[in-house]
Formats: sequence, C-alpha cells, structure tokens
Amino acid sequence: MNRRELLRSLGLSAGALALVPNDVLAQLVKTQAMQKSAFGKDFLWGVATAAYQIEGAHNIDGKGPNIWDKFSHTKGKIKHAQTGDVSCDFYHSYAADLDILKSLNMDVFRFSTSWSRILPEGTGQVNQKGIDFYHRVIDKCLENGIQPWPTLYHWDLPQALQDKGGWMNRDVINWFTEYSNLLTKTYGDKVKNWMVLNEPMAFSGLGYLLGYHAPGIRGIKHFAAAAHHTAMCQAEGGRIIRSNVKDANIGTTFSCSYIMPWKSEDRDHIAVKRWDAFINRFYIEPALGMGYPLADLPFLKKIEKFIQPGDMEKLKFDFDFIGVQNYTREVAKYMWYIPFMKGLEVPPKKRGVTEVTEMNWEVYPEGIYEIIKQFAAYKGVKKIIVTENGCAFPDFVMNDSVHDTNRVNFYQRYLEQVLRAKNDGVNLGGYFSWTLLDNFEWSEGYTPRFGLVHVDFETQKRTIKDSGLWFREFLK
Ligand code: FCB
Repeated sequence: MNRRELLRSLGLSAGALALVPNDVLAQLVKTQAMQKSAFGKDFLWGVATAAYQIEGAHNIDGKGPNIWDKFSHTKGKIKHAQTGDVSCDFYHSYAADLDILKSLNMDVFRFSTSWSRILPEGTGQVNQKGIDFYHRVIDKCLENGIQPWPTLYHWDLPQALQDKGGWMNRDVINWFTEYSNLLTKTYGDKVKNWMVLNEPMAFSGLGYLLGYHAPGIRGIKHFAAAAHHTAMCQAEGGRIIRSNVKDANIGTTFSCSYIMPWKSEDRDHIAVKRWDAFINRFYIEPALGMGYPLADLPFLKKIEKFIQPGDMEKLKFDFDFIGVQNYTREVAKYMWYIPFMKGLEVPPKKRGVTEVTEMNWEVYPEGIYEIIKQFAAYKGVKKIIVTENGCAFPDFVMNDSVHDTNRVNFYQRYLEQVLRAKNDGVNLGGYFSWTLLDNFEWSEGYTPRFGLVHVDFETQKRTIKDSGLWFREFLK
C-alpha cells in the first residue's frame, strides 16, 4: 500500500497525513496492508463472552443463585456496588445481539453456560427453561451461520455447591461430571466445538487465594485444594466431551502473559521463573502429563496433600486445541522479602509505561507473539486458538457513533503479532476478540468497557463502535 492508497483508506487529507510522524506512518501502512487472507481461509474469527457477564436475568425462569450473584451482592466487593443482575440482558436480547455479531462478519460465538441456570442446586433437579435458553442461543447461531463454541465453566459456580466447599471439596469432580454430561448429551448433536474451563488460574487464584473474586476466599491451603480439583475437572471435562460428542473439537483456555525481567540481572530471573510457573505453566503442564511445576514453586508443595493415588494419570488429557488468552505482558522484579514468589510484578506506572488500558494493563503487542510461541513450544500442544484478546478504554457515544481509535489500533497491532506467530509456523486456528458487548467486568463492575459494541446500561441501546466496524470491513 502506498501513501495515496493509505490516504484514501484512512479518509485523511494530504495535509493531515503530512503531520503524521514517519514511524507512526510506517506502522499505519503495515497494519492497513494486513489482509484477512494472510491468516488463511480456515482461520476462524469470533468473539468471546461469558454467561454471568452478559446474561442478566439472574433470578428468573428457575435459575439458582451462583457465587457471583452472592459476591456481587456483598457489600464492598464490587466497584460502585454494581452487580450482574441485569447487565446487557443478553438473556432477552440474544437474538438481536447475534444478528449484530453476524453483521460483523464473524464465524464464531464463544459463550459459556450458566451452571445454576441449568442445575439450580448444582446437581439433581434440571431446569428445563435453562436448557431451552441455550437451545435458542445455539439455534440462533446456526441460523445465522455462526458456529456456537460453548465453554462449560466461566467462573459462576452454583452457590449451593460453594456452600459445600465449592472447588475446595473433592466432590466437585462428581458435580462437574454430572453437569458436563448433561450439557454434552443435551447439545452434542448440534455443537461440535467445546471448551472445558475458562482461565483456571484466574478463578482459582483470584477466588480462592487472593479473595478478590468470588467466592472471596483467601489462603494457600484453600488455593491448593481448589487448584488440584480444578485441574482434575479440566481433564475429566475433556474426557466427558470426547465420550458424548461425536467428532468433537475439544479445548480448554488459559490466562497467560509473557513475563520479562525488570532488569536483566540474574536475580530478576528468579522472580520471572516463579511467576511464569505460577501464571502460565501451572494448569497446562499437568494436562500435558508433565505434572505441576512444583520445582519452580516450592511453596505449592501443599498441593501434594490433595493428590490421591491415580490422580497424576487422570490429570492428563489430549486436547485438540489450547485456548490462549492474553491481554498484556508482565515484568517481574526480584525481592527477597516477598514470601513465596520472591518478587513482584512491577506495575506499568512504576516502569514509566504510559500506554495502558482502562484496566491499567500495558499495551504490549509483542507479548502475544511471545506467549503464543511459548505455548506452541510444548510438545503436546497440537493447535492454538487465541480465545480472548481485547482492551478496555473509556468510550463515548456521539451522534450514534463511538470513535474508539485506540481500540482499533490495539486490535491491529495485536493481530499483526498473531500473524507473525502464524507465519513462524505455529498452528494457529483462530482469533476471538474479547468481547462483543460492554458488560459486567467482575470486581471492576461496568466501568471498563471491552465491547466492539457499546451498551447503554440505562436503555440497553447498542451502538457498534468503530472497532466493530473495523472488524466488519476487515472480515468482509
Ligand atoms: C479475562 C476473562 C474474561 C474478561 C477478560 C477481560 O481474564 O476471562 O471474563 O473478564 O479477562
């Protein structure tokens, strides 16, 4: 693409273009030149969502309460005391929202099923209205030519099960088995692509170690129990899908961030190694038959107490694909006095980094390239799909438009790095943006807006942002 073509595609005048610095211009030329076809014709494009974050309808049609219902109604847990009670009301607006998705030329709708909408008590009595809702969502996807990609668990454990200890109770393996069997037998005829868990480290770490997310529990012992049972369910879920769904394509997803040393001193590498083992390696390695990376996380030896004979074998599952979910990079600094991790991640501000999102996450596109390469280097990883990537920025609606230039820029630069990994030979099968609609961002409430589509939470009005329009054009 030359200057004139660029000018035309950006709608800039020659005068305005002359003001753009050369390095920025070079970047623009590169990203404008990026074509969908460069990713290959089988590459899948989609959006990712999660039940509790979008559905609302928290207590109707027989849905039981889950840990996020309880947590968000507990004083002091969520910014501005917001809850997911209504959120984007996807429960009622799913058809129109899936029409918007279709209009963006996407192939895939990644969503999760709410366990307590289907089994209000977590086990036992099935709620037919919940089952019917996901039939409607799946059918609407199929009618629109969109592939439905459900995730069995995206953080919303039925409260009835949390009351019995939740993920800390080994019985969760039986509860999860019952739930997964029900789902895959119910929808397996029309749904072939499944994911077991969404970001196990995020929900076990934030929910059972730090208490920042539901159910708000703290402590290494609690975490160790929850973590082992989670890893057991990760593999068990894979086996259940395999046995119930003919020709299934099975994956699970991981939160991951490339970790770099604060200064390249040997000491910082100690911190890098620990954080990497904890954040990136902890759940994938047991699935690959490598066990937990305890050599690099000595303090987690506590987990051994929860491992029963035969478990190490059961932790393995041969996933068809691995979902990589990346937003930023981390920079780790050695600090001898920090218990367990021997160091901390240095926040962007302290590093003098100013390009951050509303979540205060550094914009660092090369990080997605590095982490994809890191995961692809595992022998047992057959295929990678970027199952989440995106950014929150403050957005404003003006004349029915949202000019989220910073988000367009973010996607273009991250996609370039995804393409770079693909061109290096990584078997990359797709890219799903987080997310379709602005929604309830867990403990942060509604302030961070991640959507390609703006939601006015007072009126439920949807406005496709420029980033959504960019995808529509790009995927045309
Ligand atoms: C991921 C979660 C997702 C969303 C994004 C911003 O860690 O999987 O639900 O909150 O972060």
